[in-house]
Amino acid sequence: MPRRILATALLAAALLVPLAPAPASAVVGGAPASSAAYPWLAAVGSPIFFVRPSGQFCGGALIKPDQVLTAGHCVALFRSLPGLLTATFGRDDLTGSGGETVAVKSLRIHPEYRETRFKDETVLHHDVAVLMLERPVDRPTAVLGPPGSARTGKILGWGFTSENDLLNTRLRAADVPLRGDEACRRAYGDSFDPSDMLCAGSDRADTCQFDSGGPLIVRGRVAALTSWGYGCAKPGYPGVYTRLDSLP
Ligand code: ARG
Repeated sequence: MPRRILATALLAAALLVPLAPAPASAVVGGAPASSAAYPWLAAVGSPIFFVRPSGQFCGGALIKPDQVLTAGHCVALFRSLPGLLTATFGRDDLTGSGGETVAVKSLRIHPEYRETRFKDETVLHHDVAVLMLERPVDRPTAVLGPPGSARTGKILGWGFTSENDLLNTRLRAADVPLRGDEACRRAYGDSFDPSDMLCAGSDRADTCQFDSGGPLIVRGRVAALTSWGYGCAKPGYPGVYTRLDSLP
């Protein structure tokens, strides 16, 4: 099946290209976290993404027994092949086999999802998608809620942790400051749209590649999803998260 192999190779290449210039660090100042504490947390991936253990490339949150919320850019390439996606719950380390993996049946990306540019980074607008699972899972679901006037949140992910640790496969968590719109306006100008984006993180704590789609938790509720940023934990460039209080 050479065509199929070619398609797979192209897809893998397409997934890798945006990761290539990834400089630095995720969950800086973070620490290993236990997936048992976040039973609704999903590692979103695909068995064809052989570059990473468990095929993982994003995070997600179970919002109904058969629905996972993730970032739009995580799954945009799978629009016509949703069956290649999986959601894995309860896995502390991607190299292990703990927890459960469920296939995805179909997906919906936000109708206004689109990409623009800021320097050499992709800016993601309305960066959210819902994955419909092949079967319901028997797990508690995440509670969504706006951040209100909170000043800190928690980020979670299996992504890069530093320039020297690009191969992290361990679930990690960090506390990040919620910065307010001005900090991201200063960094990103009009690329930052406060109506659907949330500004968080610092040069000491940030998300990075492979953390996308994962939750930013405020007072126990999922307030936003990891989306984009200029580099990772770069001074003056906070992380940008998809707000969930304006879902259609
Ligand atoms: N786009 C990245 C991903 O796909 C997430 C980047 C977040 N960047 C940041 N500086 N917070 O995993």
